[in-house]
Amino acid sequence: MKTLIQFISETQHDFPYATGELSRLLNDIGIAAKIVNREVNKAGLSHIMGLSGQVNVQGEEQKKLDVFANEQFISALRYGGQCCALASEENDEIIIFDNEISRRGKYVVAIDPLDGSSNIEVNVSIGTVFSIYRRISKPGEAATEEDLLQPGTSMIAAGYVIYGSSTMLVYTTGYGVNGFTYDPSVGLFLLSHPNMKIPAAGNIYSINEANYIYFPEGVKQYLQYCQEDDKASGRPYTTRYIGSLVADFHRNLIRGGIYIYPGTAKNPAGKLRLLYECNPIAFIAEQAGGKASDGFRRIMEIKPEHIHQRSPFFVGSTSMVDKAEESMLTYSGDFRNKH
Ligand code: AHG
Ligand code: MN
Ligand code: MN
Repeated sequence: MKTLIQFISETQHDFPYATGELSRLLNDIGIAAKIVNREVNKAGLSHIMGLSGQVNVQGEEQKKLDVFANEQFISALRYGGQCCALASEENDEIIIFDNEISRRGKYVVAIDPLDGSSNIEVNVSIGTVFSIYRRISKPGEAATEEDLLQPGTSMIAAGYVIYGSSTMLVYTTGYGVNGFTYDPSVGLFLLSHPNMKIPAAGNIYSINEANYIYFPEGVKQYLQYCQEDDKASGRPYTTRYIGSLVADFHRNLIRGGIYIYPGTAKNPAGKLRLLYECNPIAFIAEQAGGKASDGFRRIMEIKPEHIHQRSPFFVGSTSMVDKAEESMLTYSGDFRNKH
């Protein structure tokens, strides 16, 4: 079976700047993921559950595992030498790696080190999400925030790790999507899901329906459509919602479906963060033949203004996202450009 490292080296010629640096960067992320996986797997035994006592920049309480995962990815990238700066959900400002080697690194990374924190204590799947950009500033100089404020269309690579019933790393460099399953007995990610494609249509919709009364009319109408009785088109659909974006998206990628986290009148930009949640998942969705939108426009074309910027998010099977967008346009056109 092919290992992640073998696969990365073999496909290296696909990269526009094939010098091996991006391969090393992806490999560094894989190593940090293994360490996080080790802690996640024995979370109940190792006193790593619960709150860290700190609150992150977005006012969310950090869990111990959020902090641990953040530290692992930061140190893997700091000492890997390919990455010159990082934006993390858990850090207010970007982290600039200003040592002799990293300063020459060509890439910047945006990361959600631990996605689905509310599921840690209850043994439900969680994840890591990351996106990689080529820096704009000159290698050799200190990186700047501008390096991270690039639209998703500039992503060089993106991926996620799902710590689930098995642990998987799924990534794209813009040439399709490949999934690797972690074999703990040998400590390797092995290619298990080559060339992943999302079904063009599906019958799963994933949304936190408890927020229904706050949803824009376009989302309400779309949910009604999902619930209508129409055997010929496979409706009513079915609901699946884990509360970990990575896990919800991963299931829908394999089975076909749509994930929605809409904006509301109070929070027009919704909850999910553009740089390290929406964009990387959007890149993977598109590379797998699916679609990602903020309800009106392509996620990857949004030019970010802040590193922790949020966006409404509609992602999954193309025909389902098309239908949801149609409903948004018809019933919630006033939501356009509200975030
Ligand atoms: P995080 O744990 O990184 O803060 O992300 C949680 C996100 C996302 O993973 C999930 O889909 C969503 O929040 C769930 O939000 P609700 O609990 O509001 O449904
Ligand atoms: Mn998250
Ligand atoms: Mn997180």
